[in-house]
Amino acid sequence: MKGLILAGGAGTRLRPITHTSAKQLVPVANKPILFYGLEDMASAGIVDIGIIVGDTRDEIMAAVGDGSRWGVRVTYIPQDAPLGLAHCVLIAQEFLGNDDFVMYLGDNLLQQGLTEFTERFAAARAGDSPQPPSAQILLAHVADPRQFGVAEVAPDGGVVRLVEKPADPPSDLALVGVYLFDATIHEAVRSIAPSARGELEITDAIQWLLDHGHRVRHEVLRGWWLDTGKKDPLLESNRRILETIDARIDGKVDELSTIEGRVVIESGAEIISSRIRGPVIIGENTRVVNSYVGPFTSIASGCEIRDSELDHSVVLDESRICGIAGIADSLIGRWVEVSRSGRRPRGVRLMLGDHSNVDLE
Ligand code: G1P
Repeated sequence: MKGLILAGGAGTRLRPITHTSAKQLVPVANKPILFYGLEDMASAGIVDIGIIVGDTRDEIMAAVGDGSRWGVRVTYIPQDAPLGLAHCVLIAQEFLGNDDFVMYLGDNLLQQGLTEFTERFAAARAGDSPQPPSAQILLAHVADPRQFGVAEVAPDGGVVRLVEKPADPPSDLALVGVYLFDATIHEAVRSIAPSARGELEITDAIQWLLDHGHRVRHEVLRGWWLDTGKKDPLLESNRRILETIDARIDGKVDELSTIEGRVVIESGAEIISSRIRGPVIIGENTRVVNSYVGPFTSIASGCEIRDSELDHSVVLDESRICGIAGIADSLIGRWVEVSRSGRRPRGVRLMLGDHSNVDLE
């Protein structure tokens, strides 16, 4: 079985979460989201992985490299425009050949591992059923199905119908961004037409399989799942992953500081006259001086937190927060500076990137 990870694909999927970076590289507990999917594939024994890359390709390629870090072989497949998830399969055909494959949306994060999911598909295909499944989908109950692909499932467990972002959802079962396919999907993606949003939808390709008499197996997700493309799910995934980390102090903590609970302090980091209350991760070469860092906070590398207080937040590399108390529920990008200059006239001076969102008390 091969793997296909989408770090390009749909227009909405490509929208960067911060001005400069690919959202699949935004760190959760200081590890890029995309790496969780890669690790999951590697531990399911998938060695050949194609990654679809769009306009953030340089950044993704620099971060992932050739995959040898995970013991896998990565092939990059460039996509010139975000023409849809089924378009990704279309352009990956040469790489995929006739093999079965798992397709993984690079900004989805799942508690459940891939191993059993792929094993059950392989078993269903190898079994003596007169009609083995051509695809397997993963479904999750969600509060607002209109934002997702939605499945209608018959009482006997068969998938009846799939619709992308329906105004009037037939159920509350959303399609999670992990799919298993055999080579039949190639004919499906060649046969469908673009949707109203101008994209070749994978949901429509799976519907094509059903319409042409192929069987689609489904499973309902166990555990949590997050589509991390938005700030709040991102903070939520950060919280969930931080709950699972093992405490470790490789950096320096001075005698005036206190560390409570599950805290990781990476090498080269320095904690001076500060209080850190876990779960927290402080990245390499970050300095925390005269500050409080509260639960569920990840601070990436090369940052400076001085005379400040923050909790339940994610701070990306090389940012500086100085003299600010009460930062909460925040996502702060790279090379950001938040400080008080004391300049007159008093005021809030902002330089915010695309899709920014500011809530002033
Ligand atoms: C895509 C799929 C949708 C699926 C979702 C999962 O949506 O089209 O069917 O439910 O991923 O994250 P998109 O984020 O591209 O709008």
